[in-house]
Amino acid sequence: MNHQSVVVLDFGGQYNQLIARRVRECGVYCELLPYDTDVEKLKEKNLIGIILTGGPNSVTEEGAPMLDKKVLSLGVPVLGICYGCQLLAYMHGGEVTCGAREYGKRRLLVGKGGKLTKGLPKESVCWMSHTYFVGKTPEGCTVTASTETCPTAAYENEKERYYAVQFHPEVMHTEYGTKVLENFLYGICGAKGDWTMKNFAEQTVAALKEKLGDKKVLCALSGGVDSAVAAALVHKACPNLICVFVDHGLLRKNEAEEVERVFRDEQGMNLIKADASEIFLEKLKGVTDPETKRRIIGEEFIRVFEREAKKIGKVDYLVQGTIYPDVIESGKGKSAVIKSHHNVGALPDVVDFKEIVEPLRDLFKDEVRACGFEIGLPKSIVMRQPFPGPGLAIRIIGDVTREKLDILKEADYIFREEIARADLDGKIWQYFAVLTGNRSVGVMGDERTYDYTLALRGVTSVDGMTADWARIPYDVLETVSNRIVNEVGHINRIVYDITGKPPATIEWE
Ligand code: XMP
Repeated sequence: MNHQSVVVLDFGGQYNQLIARRVRECGVYCELLPYDTDVEKLKEKNLIGIILTGGPNSVTEEGAPMLDKKVLSLGVPVLGICYGCQLLAYMHGGEVTCGAREYGKRRLLVGKGGKLTKGLPKESVCWMSHTYFVGKTPEGCTVTASTETCPTAAYENEKERYYAVQFHPEVMHTEYGTKVLENFLYGICGAKGDWTMKNFAEQTVAALKEKLGDKKVLCALSGGVDSAVAAALVHKACPNLICVFVDHGLLRKNEAEEVERVFRDEQGMNLIKADASEIFLEKLKGVTDPETKRRIIGEEFIRVFEREAKKIGKVDYLVQGTIYPDVIESGKGKSAVIKSHHNVGALPDVVDFKEIVEPLRDLFKDEVRACGFEIGLPKSIVMRQPFPGPGLAIRIIGDVTREKLDILKEADYIFREEIARADLDGKIWQYFAVLTGNRSVGVMGDERTYDYTLALRGVTSVDGMTADWARIPYDVLETVSNRIVNEVGHINRIVYDITGKPPATIEWE
């Protein structure tokens, strides 16, 4: 693709992926690469700027990661953030000093004349996280901002085209962080803003057309966002795409029907649905251990897919929904990644294919969603909340039966409906019901009951690694509770899970 690109060189800071995401939000394509990436590799890109990230080291300590000097002669502007800011000073003969620790929100005081700080008010809030700072800037630099404890919160060398901020413009708490990034990209690097999902979708479809032609292509649809968008993109480029959807019967109410409706009826895809719910239920009979459930479902999924793939025979390409964070996490973009999601990870072993095609490997999750909308997929698919591969089997504590599945599907559906009605569906990361193995005494009418306890779980999160329990308003919870006990049989007690992760996990199993 011929779009402009900015490379973020990674020195190990915790916000580095975020920098790349923010740059892309500004409409400029951006990649995160290791700090010691070969200069020749950088030359291959349509490079307009380089960003050096923060990191845990101090530039003055032995073994601290350094930048190859040749990077500074590539002829494009360089922005240093935090460690990157100190590194630029150090490399140009400035001094880096160990000073007062600054962590969190600080008052940023901006002076006149900076290109990077252009348009910022005299005073605003920035986010700092450092112990060292630039004590003396290199010759030819102008200091353009400070805080009470850091005299060099921003400096720049207009002649040599390097720019630096000690604070973190990528962090939400930095009030004018986006403005600083825009100044760098548009005011300094000459960005055109050519990274849009419309461009991406058009160029990807064109490239896929060329690559795939009328070859035979296979894709496993799971109902999840990534495989859905990947399949829909490939479908626009290739007439011979076959999608296989294994319905293990453990999806939420209406989800399997939705997959068929959208992909077969609306998108006109060649979709093969393997209805395997009976097989999965049979295999899961009497199994109570969560990890055993996961293993059985994972293995059975592969077996069902294998049977379908055998019927199809040899294909040329297998589509995978790998996305950019997967690429970064597993080898810093060096090798093709096969997603380790339980239900697609082992597919390459059982399919007879020539090559893997990964149309989303350059996209962050929010871009995958934007791309999904761009190519006409509905909200129900594009904004689908994360859902575990083993499905409702790990939301039923104890053994899985058809009866329990039916109860859980109905209860979960009511919860989802009410969350959407309260306009909370876009604000909560995941919300679902769990059929606990607990039974307790209740009273309904004049009858004593001894029925299931249902747990409701709602969490906010950024990446699923940590989470907080969602503060769902009491009146919404009350409506959900009333509806469930009235409309679904065999539930006489409902509890709301108020634990974060850690110490709990998001799922109950
Ligand atoms: P936990 O429960 O570990 O979940 O806090 C973190 C995120 O991962 C999802 N999850 C899974 N996804 N297969 C999956 O594909 C699994 O076995 C699995 N277990 C948990 C969970 O829904 C949450 O988003």
